[in-house]
Amino acid sequence: MKRFEGQVAIVTGGARGLGEKMCEKFALEGASVVLSDILEDEAKQTADRIRGNGCEITTFVSDLREIENIRKLIQYTVYTYGRLDILVNNAGVNRLMPAVEMTEETFDWILDVDLRTPFFCSVEAAKVMMRQKSGKIVNISSGNSRMMNIGRAPYCIAKAGINAMTSILAAEWAIQGIRVNAVAPGWIKTAIPSHALKVGLLNEEQVLSISPVQRWGKEEEIANVVCFLASDDASYIIGQTVFADGGWSTGILPHALDYFKEAK
Ligand SMILES: NC(=O)c1ccc[n+]([C@@H]2O[C@H](COP(=O)([O-])OP(=O)(O)OC[C@H]3O[C@@H](n4cnc5c(N)ncnc54)[C@H](O)[C@@H]3O)[C@@H](O)[C@H]2O)c1
Repeated sequence: MKRFEGQVAIVTGGARGLGEKMCEKFALEGASVVLSDILEDEAKQTADRIRGNGCEITTFVSDLREIENIRKLIQYTVYTYGRLDILVNNAGVNRLMPAVEMTEETFDWILDVDLRTPFFCSVEAAKVMMRQKSGKIVNISSGNSRMMNIGRAPYCIAKAGINAMTSILAAEWAIQGIRVNAVAPGWIKTAIPSHALKVGLLNEEQVLSISPVQRWGKEEEIANVVCFLASDDASYIIGQTVFADGGWSTGILPHALDYFKEAK
């Protein structure tokens, strides 16, 4: 018996990056997956690839900033599969720039996709989960919710908000059988950090120098934690943000290790 057999999971932003790996893992472990994204071609390609492994997966393409689209996503899922067990609020965006150069439009866009949308996706999903008296919601936060970086003000604000939202909604809904938790990834080489690397706002050395494990994370290392939190193995974990970041959020820089090595 597979871990998510008979369960239905929505992954927002599932067309590529971390979300793609989450869709794959849920599907391989028996869930029927609804891959939701704004990117039509990428969503279709990813779903076709995963379906090729004999898995059940469909796509729902729309901009989730519109609450009407969120409602349609939930309706589509329940209409297609009859229930909704797992929601992963993964879709996210970022744009790096100094705070004084930030436009209202960019600020609103990031706060909208990264905080407002996960809130209303959670609320609409919870209405179904409350009727079922069970459900799991996993929010994708970021190491930047705790370890802030210059040039990412709206992103850091939104992700810190995700951690707060996770605790609040978890406490409101736990008694109705809905478990809400979050995963805060560290540095994984998807489109988001690749852009910063490309324009020179970040370099490989900086990432390694703040990571005690001294390497980038892998997509599956995040998907594994998401699936754990969505599984019954995590049945007593409520309202937590799990940092999967190679030790970055300890705040301890690994440089001293070089000193001890050299001193030997
Ligand atoms: N990659 C990292 O190092 C890292 C670190 C910490 C947190 N995260 C978080 O992980 C999540 C996934 O990011 P990723 O790195 O895979 O980036 P990504 O850009 O590859 O994936 C994000 C997905 O969200 C989708 N999306 C964006 N706006 C949308 C909208 N309005 N409606 C529907 N879908 C939309 C995009 O089309 C894309 O497929 C994000 O929440 C991000 O903040 C990533």
